[in-house]
Amino acid sequence: MAHANDNYPPRVLIVNPKGGCGKTTLATNLATIYAHRGLVATLFDHDPQGSSREWLARRSSRLPPVNVVEAHQQPREGMTRSFQLRLPIDTERIIEDTPAGLEPTRIGDLMRRSSVVLVPVLPSSIDMRAAAVFLTALVKIHEQRQLRAPIAVIANRVRKNTLMFKKLMKFLDDAHVPLVATFHDMQVYVHATDMGQGVLELGGRAAREAGQWSILVRWIEQQIAAQGEDTDTHRTGEEVQVRDQPAPLSNTSPP
Ligand SMILES: Nc1ncnc2c1ncn2[C@@H]1O[C@H](COP(=O)(O)OP(=O)(O)O)[C@@H](O)[C@H]1O
Ligand SMILES: [Mg+2]
Repeated sequence: MAHANDNYPPRVLIVNPKGGCGKTTLATNLATIYAHRGLVATLFDHDPQGSSREWLARRSSRLPPVNVVEAHQQPREGMTRSFQLRLPIDTERIIEDTPAGLEPTRIGDLMRRSSVVLVPVLPSSIDMRAAAVFLTALVKIHEQRQLRAPIAVIANRVRKNTLMFKKLMKFLDDAHVPLVATFHDMQVYVHATDMGQGVLELGGRAAREAGQWSILVRWIEQQIAAQGEDTDTHRTGEEVQVRDQPAPLSNTSPP
């Protein structure tokens, strides 16, 4: 379907040069939530390690489909880059999973076409120190290039009421970057990844995470709506409305 708006479909960019902070986990989980909400979600895997592609390969065909485009591969001979990156038809949300160590200029380029930028951060001293440096650089690029995409932090693998979590909150206050969602340190995230699923598809203990995922998706959708990008009227009526309490996703049993 043709769109008058060049910024369509909206893009959610997930960045943090630090490995292991949860970029791929955030990307795959978001994609499954959009898929369950009836949206065509496509993951752009910029990581040569291909974690998102491997995750998809483990995903059951009985679950709502998610697309993965390998954005990291060099184009094969005779294949143009635009062909390689071609979007599955009717893609409604793009989620960009990026590798560790991505250069700031490249991040700036990706940010230019993004609707929102999510930075997952682990509440450890090392990660928070690295995140402070990274967020400062990100905010600078944002200002210099006059980008529109709001930046938000996602606290990942959190054990609430720990001193580290309190330090993370203080750090974010000082950095003037909002903390939009907080996900717990739970083994279900590892299980879900192993099974090509999102945590909410596992049910059971994972259900306690539903509220935070709902808050995150609602925040993203609010940013997209504010930017006037959701111009696709044939799918984005009632279906896309973000519910406060998402419908249970479990159509499989926990392992
Ligand atoms: N909230 C969480 N609780 C427990 N394990 C997690 C959580 N988020 C991520 N993980 C695990 O941490 C590891 C690194 O996460 P990953 O998403 O691959 O990070 P990145 O893509 O930033 O390198 C993976 O094994 C993943 O399953
Ligand atoms: Mg990754």
